[in-house]
Amino acid sequence: MDVTAKDNRIHEPIIDTERLILRPLTQADAAVVQFLAGDKAIAATTLSIPHPYGAGVAEKWIKSIKGDIAEGKSVVFAITENNNGNLLGTIGLMINKEHDHAEMGYWIGKDYWGKGYCTEAAHAVLEYGFENLGLNRIFAHHFKGNNASGRIMRKIGMSHEGSSKGHIKKWDQYKDIENYGLIKEDYRQGEQNYRLTSMPFAERYSFI
Ligand SMILES: CC(C)(COP(=O)(O)OP(=O)(O)OC[C@H]1O[C@@H](n2cnc3c(N)ncnc32)[C@H](O)[C@@H]1OP(=O)(O)O)[C@@H](O)C(=O)NCCC(=O)NCCS
Repeated sequence: MDVTAKDNRIHEPIIDTERLILRPLTQADAAVVQFLAGDKAIAATTLSIPHPYGAGVAEKWIKSIKGDIAEGKSVVFAITENNNGNLLGTIGLMINKEHDHAEMGYWIGKDYWGKGYCTEAAHAVLEYGFENLGLNRIFAHHFKGNNASGRIMRKIGMSHEGSSKGHIKKWDQYKDIENYGLIKEDYRQGEQNYRLTSMPFAERYSFI
């Protein structure tokens, strides 16, 4: 676990996967984040991404997540292609240290959908959460009908834990959500089924 009693800050890792590098976001990413997340299709199926995505929103968001990371409340990665550095989207964990659990959230720019990028990133972040952050449970939700997101959750080994009717008010409409989760013990047992790479765990992480 890289969170110590003295220093709650999460030491942000850089994670290598087969096609991706997951790295900390910086203010230099703001323009691309604004461009990609500004697509209405991203806001439509997420809880807190605004639309329109105005000037300064990305800068403010990146600043706020740095604060949360400093307090050990979350970790957020830029999802980038390892061959050219292009930023594809973001993925993160909102951490509750009292319960050693975290909620995973992600989005990928529309031009990059359907290439398995989010699955690859989600798998790595799941592993990071269990192996490095010492989490006991990682969970995620998606709006009913966002089947691509549900597919990712199942592909990384999460179980469907039920539905919550009308749980979210989005753009003045009540939305049903589907709940997924995985505990560390089950992750360990099923890990071989979901592992995407044979590269040893320790070789895929570096910390800044
Ligand atoms: C959901 C999202 C992250 C998926 O990203 P992605 O990189 O395209 O996802 P992947 O390619 O890794 O996997 C998508 C899977 O869903 C499947 N899929 C795509 N559209 C689908 C649909 N309408 N119904 C069922 N499955 C679907 C794909 O075939 C793929 O499964 P497969 O590998 O078994 O073929 C992306 O669409 C997105 O950012 N959407 C807007 C934001 C959002 O919804 N975030 C999640 C909030 S819970």
